[in-house]
Amino acid sequence: MSHSANEALFRPFKLKSLELKNRIVMAPMTRGFSPEGVPGQNVADYYRRRAEGDVGLILSEGTVIDRPNSKNLPGIPDFHGEKSLAGWKNVIDTVHAAGGKMGPQIWHVANTIASADYPPNPDETESPSGFVKPGEKRGHAMSEEDIADTIAAFGKAAADAERLGFDVVEIHGAHGYLIDQFFWQGLNLRDDRWGGETITERARFGAEVVKAVRAAISDDMPVIIRLSQWKQQDYNARIATTPDEMTEWLQPLVDAGADMLHCSQRRFWEPEFPEIDGEEGLNFAGWAKKLTGVPTISVGSVGLNGADFLGWFGGAEVNAKTPDLDRLVRRMERDEFDLIAVGRALIADPAWVKKIEGGETETLSTFSRETLGALV
Ligand SMILES: Cc1cc2nc3c(=O)[nH]c(=O)nc-3n(C[C@H](O)[C@H](O)[C@H](O)COP(=O)(O)O)c2cc1C
Repeated sequence: MSHSANEALFRPFKLKSLELKNRIVMAPMTRGFSPEGVPGQNVADYYRRRAEGDVGLILSEGTVIDRPNSKNLPGIPDFHGEKSLAGWKNVIDTVHAAGGKMGPQIWHVANTIASADYPPNPDETESPSGFVKPGEKRGHAMSEEDIADTIAAFGKAAADAERLGFDVVEIHGAHGYLIDQFFWQGLNLRDDRWGGETITERARFGAEVVKAVRAAISDDMPVIIRLSQWKQQDYNARIATTPDEMTEWLQPLVDAGADMLHCSQRRFWEPEFPEIDGEEGLNFAGWAKKLTGVPTISVGSVGLNGADFLGWFGGAEVNAKTPDLDRLVRRMERDEFDLIAVGRALIADPAWVKKIEGGETETLSTFSRETLGALV
């Protein structure tokens, strides 16, 4: 029985072969518990607990394609190589046995660095133009061959995802990593066909990745691409400053075969273009759905009533005990977007969905930085 106030979150959802029991998605979150790139039983059990906790769709932590320096921490799982793929096979079998649905988030970090000593040789990292921030050089600009091989590696990972039995595949095109670096005018300075003055031109790389992924898997298996305006290098950066620009960015990705757009925001209630529809206006996922017509996923500080996820790096404890879901429910009731991803609240408490559904919020575990020290 669902807690009636939150009913909009507990409606089923269907997209191609993907059937979900509710609208709640576990956001992709890097945990770094996969030594040598291999997800072990502890990782499978971590995702199993979310499946048992009735998460509608689990998106894995970012897991990387077969390219040199495609990850920026040693504990990030690979999505290539026999041992890693065997680990992922165990993950999806374990999640399915618990009644869950799951897709891997396929990733290439470009030239970002997550710790001082990794990757071991930053000069060997690859990116559109050899910049990690506007004006800050690192690594080298990709050659035509690098680009072709990278697109093919995304396709290969998608084919492996279907072969292993995953329900969906998500391409990580957000947050200032490789695909997003091509979108971003500040980092894509190329004057060949992979760059250009317009966002449609700079979306070509992302669109080619989507096409390769689409071509590698069955027509019926949904492809999601995650996108963001903000970058870890610059929280105020924006790819699209008007709805027209947003269409010019997103439509090529949809035309290439993306079935759903995962629109990453730090706070889901913030309007994307308040100058057009006001302070209660559509968020990023709302505009993306309105402009393209495809279903969208929103995200950002659900159930936390506190610091957004970059804020807590300062050490803030986030109060998840009294989640105020009213404004989320209001947006979902009018189908502004289709699914809502939940990040930190689900790291802290694998039973978050069940407790919300049952109205047992007083037993929710709270999120703090310490929570990240173990796979709960
Ligand atoms: C520990 C941690 C790791 C994350 N790793 C990823 C990642 O691998 N891929 C990604 O797209 N986003 C990543 N994110 C962002 C989350 O998916 C999500 O968008 C963000 O935490 C906001 O949701 P929340 O406020 O519900 O936590 C990460 C966030 C956290 C807290």
